[in-house]
Amino acid sequence: MDPGFLALLKCAACGASGMRAQPGYLACTSCEAQYERADGYVNMLDLSAGEPAAPSTEQRLMESELVARIYERFWRPAFVRVLAGRGASKGTGGFAGEMFIHKNTLAMEERQGPWLDLSCGPGMFTRAMAAAAPGALIIGLDISRAMIEAAVRRVKGYSNVGLLRADAHALPLADGCLGGVNQSGSLHAYDDPPLAWSEIHRTLRSGGLYVGSTFAPARSLAGRLAARIAGIRRFAPHELRAQLSRLGFADYEEIRFGDAFIFRVRKP
Ligand SMILES: C[S@@+](CC[C@H](N)C(=O)[O-])C[C@H]1O[C@@H](n2cnc3c(N)ncnc32)[C@H](O)[C@@H]1O
Repeated sequence: MDPGFLALLKCAACGASGMRAQPGYLACTSCEAQYERADGYVNMLDLSAGEPAAPSTEQRLMESELVARIYERFWRPAFVRVLAGRGASKGTGGFAGEMFIHKNTLAMEERQGPWLDLSCGPGMFTRAMAAAAPGALIIGLDISRAMIEAAVRRVKGYSNVGLLRADAHALPLADGCLGGVNQSGSLHAYDDPPLAWSEIHRTLRSGGLYVGSTFAPARSLAGRLAARIAGIRRFAPHELRAQLSRLGFADYEEIRFGDAFIFRVRKP
């Protein structure tokens, strides 16, 4: 395991930094908690109370192997179209355009990593980030076993990627260790977004950037119904801006695409 990656990890059980790599698992050097090193990723979830319960219909689907397999080509484009409206994808220039906007908004070519692709799903943005910053470590992290296993298959060939199964509400990463965080299309799925934001703030170094994309209040009835059925939330941009500012982020900027938007903030 890449020693640079190992050095960033923090124990999900006791919060201490310092992990020892053993064949098949990592051990916390403080409390000896063990984390499975599955084929191609580390499972950093604290599973002592069992597998985490999916808080919504959408998240139950994200745990499915079938959805993980078809997510990139079929599921995501359809989901974005229903929830963000037809114009959103055209506005970004499709998926390739969306990735371009995220990478450029993170200013990956001029800034230092490591970078986190938070809630990476099957790793589309992780791959784009790995290609944009070949000299930096890119961490792909997701709570869904099916998604992280799909990411393992799809990032093969990128030697600068490390994958973690973990919870955005309790990032197993050291304080101030990241140069930037990308979080595309997942905020709507979290149980407690402010808790995830404070984790992002904690793990970013001073000057680090956080770029996210999410859904704004829907203008169409179909968009409102889809959000209700999927059990996901939408964010009013001015409220999001106020919440992020209360948590200590600065320099909020946003670009709107249909009923979705991409935003960027900086940790001062
Ligand atoms: C709609 S997908 C987005 C995937 C990818 N970032 C994209 O832009 O297509 C939402 C992802 O968030 C993940 N997710 C939901 N709750 C999470 C949590 N608490 N911690 C980490 N990931 C989570 C899901 O498993 C899923 O892979």
